[in-house]
Amino acid sequence: MKRKLRSGMSASLLAVAACVALHSPHSLAARDAQTILKETCQGCHTPEADNGLSRISHQRKTPEGWLMSIARMQTMHGLQISDDDRRTLVKYLADSQGLAPSETDGVRYALERRLNTVEHFDDQTSQMCGRCHSGARVALQRRPAQEWERLVNFHLGQWPSLEYQALARDRDWFDIARKDMVPLLAKRYPLDNPAWKKWQSAAPKADALVGDWSFSGHLPGKGELAGVMTVSADGSDTFKVSVKGQYADGSPFNGDGSAILYTGYEWRGNVTIDGVTMRQVFAAQGNAMQGRMFEAEHDERGLDFVAAKQGSNRLLAVQPGYLKAGSETEVTLIGSGLTGKPNFGKGVEVVEVVEQSPERIKVKLKAAANAQPGLRAVTVGTLKGPSLSVYSKIDAVKVVPEFSVARIGEGGGSTPKVQGRFDAEAWGKGADGKPYRIGVFPAQWKVEAFDDRAKEDEDVKFAGTMQADAGVFTPGDAGPNPARKMSTNNAGNLKVIAAVDDAGKSLTGEGHMIVTVQRWNNPPIP
Ligand code: HEC
Ligand code: HEC
Repeated sequence: MKRKLRSGMSASLLAVAACVALHSPHSLAARDAQTILKETCQGCHTPEADNGLSRISHQRKTPEGWLMSIARMQTMHGLQISDDDRRTLVKYLADSQGLAPSETDGVRYALERRLNTVEHFDDQTSQMCGRCHSGARVALQRRPAQEWERLVNFHLGQWPSLEYQALARDRDWFDIARKDMVPLLAKRYPLDNPAWKKWQSAAPKADALVGDWSFSGHLPGKGELAGVMTVSADGSDTFKVSVKGQYADGSPFNGDGSAILYTGYEWRGNVTIDGVTMRQVFAAQGNAMQGRMFEAEHDERGLDFVAAKQGSNRLLAVQPGYLKAGSETEVTLIGSGLTGKPNFGKGVEVVEVVEQSPERIKVKLKAAANAQPGLRAVTVGTLKGPSLSVYSKIDAVKVVPEFSVARIGEGGGSTPKVQGRFDAEAWGKGADGKPYRIGVFPAQWKVEAFDDRAKEDEDVKFAGTMQADAGVFTPGDAGPNPARKMSTNNAGNLKVIAAVDDAGKSLTGEGHMIVTVQRWNNPPIP
């Protein structure tokens, strides 16, 4: 391999780097970001005009992106930095060289750690860049062409065998990366973007987030929940957080913690619910927060979360979001500033308002026996947003996620098991013959061998257990299993089957789950 790493760094600077690496973090007092950049990074990164530093000043990324870059400086280049200084720097860089909210649209699943997401990038990007890590890791950065090129050089320099791995032998990876990918990336993800300039000048102040938030959520395997999150200021851009809520089945969802705001909207919290630490990864803008809250040790156990600041006017959700023609049921509207009469559209009558406050309205609904199947826009006064599904019969059941990865773990090792967590979605057929989503239904769950191979290897017996009434799959222990052929591990290839009952008729849906080995390398952005 004759290709050289051209990273904008000279050999003499790398010599300085060795000295820097020997320095231990010298001060216990908090240092400001400029001082850290000067004293800790400048040894390797060349000073430029306007207080700039080579490489560092020509990129924008998320807080997780900055954290990963600096962590790489530590693991690969011998950078010594205290955790405090690293935190200060990540905050400063994410604030001054972050991404505008619109620049993270569509790829937030990577930050929210929805690891079962099936990505849809163009073929070239998927094959060239999306085989080792997510395409989102790429889409969550902004650089000029020269910096995209240095990134390509860094890849090949750092992993020279790259061209022989990851199905890359059929092409000249380096050539395509430089000639095709660099211009494409520079155009698609440019450093200079009016959206970022605009966000920097117009971003709301962090203290606008202080107050009570009405929230709605959904946890696969458990159901819907709602409550109030109270946010109080605790320093600049840092907050105390307390959550008081309830699942639809009445069980509590209460806890306390803290949060920090990056880039004016990237909300990252740690809240302990019932002794379990949960991370919050939200986009917080003005009166709205949205994202995912998941267990720190088990990011597969997480809930979709949406919140509205109390005092604002917003309708967030209807729980549950469906109603059968000819039947009566109680539904709850969640939001903020809910005044006036709720309306659920044609064929749906409000029988009784059971409870009404600005944050929630509980009503008893009745759908006419001949109500047309389909979606109804729900309104409260002038507020709208969510919809209610009216159905007369379930047409199909879908397992969500349709494709997923669970992982064996423990078994004497320190890596926890990664569960499979599923929802059974019922779908109806509208008057126009088009399918529409009714909502998540209770189901009976089981797994079966995905193919003959899986049947022969008895994957169902070894790969783990499905909780029949919850759609939660817990994989088997890690390590060799003497009971299996060749003492192989407990990996497996399974069908996930949900059976939903619709007035005595059972309908089934099917998903696919691979139970595989531990994920050894688990960076913040997959
Ligand atoms: C010991 C030398 C050394 C120190 C100290 C160092 N870096 Fe680097 N840095 C490098 C090298 C070498 C590269 C190019 C290879 C790479 O990207 O890993 C680099 C590249 C980078 C990049 C570009 C990464 C990319 O994806 O293109 C960023 C950002 C960065 N460094 C940030 C920092 C920050 C922030 C600090 C101080 C906390 C720092 N570095 C300190 C050696 C160093
Ligand atoms: C052979 C596997 C492989 C391929 C192919 C690959 N990457 Fe990477 N990439 C990595 C690894 C490993 C890292 C470093 C992760 C870390 O910092 O811990 C990385 C890091 C990155 C980062 C983060 C760098 C930073 O510090 O900010 C970006 C952005 C990136 N890759 C983009 C790309 C693009 C664009 C392509 C396609 C042209 C690509 N990658 C192809 C393995 C790969």
